[in-house]
Amino acid sequence: MEKAVIEIAGKKYELKVITGTEGEKAIDISELRKLTGHITLDYGFMNTGVCRSAISFIDGEKGILRYRGIPIEELAEKSTFVETSYLLIHGELPGKNELENYSELLNYHSMLHEDMKHFFDGFPAASHPMNILSTMLNALSSFYPEIETNTKIENIDLAATRLISKTRTIAAFSYKKSKGHPFVYPRKDLTYCANFLNMMFSSPVATYEIDPDIVKALNLLLIIHAEHEQNCSTTAVKTIGSSGVNLYTSISAGVSALWGTLHGGANQEVIEMLEAIGKPENISKFISRAKDKNDSFRLMGFGHRVYKNYDPRARILKKTCDKILAKIKTSQPLLEIAQKLEEIALRDEYFIERKLYPNVDFYSGIIYKAIGIPVEMFTVMFAIGRMPGWIAHWKELNSDQETKILRPRQVYIGSKIRNYIPIDKR
Ligand code: CMC
Repeated sequence: MEKAVIEIAGKKYELKVITGTEGEKAIDISELRKLTGHITLDYGFMNTGVCRSAISFIDGEKGILRYRGIPIEELAEKSTFVETSYLLIHGELPGKNELENYSELLNYHSMLHEDMKHFFDGFPAASHPMNILSTMLNALSSFYPEIETNTKIENIDLAATRLISKTRTIAAFSYKKSKGHPFVYPRKDLTYCANFLNMMFSSPVATYEIDPDIVKALNLLLIIHAEHEQNCSTTAVKTIGSSGVNLYTSISAGVSALWGTLHGGANQEVIEMLEAIGKPENISKFISRAKDKNDSFRLMGFGHRVYKNYDPRARILKKTCDKILAKIKTSQPLLEIAQKLEEIALRDEYFIERKLYPNVDFYSGIIYKAIGIPVEMFTVMFAIGRMPGWIAHWKELNSDQETKILRPRQVYIGSKIRNYIPIDKR
């Protein structure tokens, strides 16, 4: 078996090397502190694996992403969000009956408890829908407390189904609330994505025509956001979950983490950046700002911790952008600016050297905008999509015998011991 040897103060220690199914290697340091008295220091967990996981595989150098072994390109082309979420949560594609039952359950659990509707009135009108979403998801644990006391697998699956279904209802209701429009309830006869579009855009005075091409585009968007191994929000879900708290509360932490602009919040920032650029002639000014170390501005939708090649999700979305904009027959000046920006950045030494390519957030907003989703809802769309990934990781964490509470260590650099000084002597 392969071993790694570490030498500290002239003494050598052997550490196990672990190999994943795709050949990736990890040095197992779980005995390091016990053996040597040392810990590791790894800002941003750039080199730290926290678990063994069977949910998704990424090769950032080659631009590969697979869910449960299936390439993202195949799922984006052939699957639906409901089927993909089943695959992620249960590990296998569903059979015909399983898929029907699952779709039915998602419909059955799509309503919100009527008392929850009043919560929307408590938020100031300008509240960000991500804030509303994380609060409401956390509140689900009060409405369905049985999961606290009984974590049998059927209960977890029920909670997972509720989360996937109700997140979409909460999202649509928060949009309606922001417009001052009445809530539109979910309908039993509609599929997952069609139902969401109907809850968002139909009203008592205007019927919304559900367009199958838009439903298809939405399915694709949700599928490509559904899972991305140990990213910041998934790590938040797992960190909270490792303390033993329920699934709803763990997921609510994931929504909060996703909101940040370096993570899911980037999709809103990309559109705002493209709007600020305004016309292709201004692109070089923004590129120069992104390269300037004295300017905090970054090219939003560019760069990734894991992908050092074109993000495969951005590649799929770029193609979808052309199709969907042609279908809607809308001119989209932002797409032209985005394409030019990408072209210029990918020829620039700064971006080449650092291997900075468009990521999933670069083109997603253009499609969301084209199908009528308001900009402040973009990150909520990401959260609806990421729900099955978060749930799959929470389940995996709770079924892994090796799981421990996630509790890193630190290198203390504060004062040495000193005495307390009474306030009149300071
Ligand atoms: N624009 C300009 N420079 C960049 C950018 C960017 N978008 N991204 C990274 N860099 C530079 C960075 O300044 C650093 O340069 P140097 O080596 O000279 O100090 C180098 O590239 C490495 O960057 P890093 O910040 O150390 O890399 P990281 O892995 O810690 O960060 C990232 C990854 C995604 C946070 C970062 O690339 C970024 O801020 N991108 C813009 C925000 C964004 O699009 N986020 C969405 C990520 S994908 C979807 C998701 O996860 O939600």
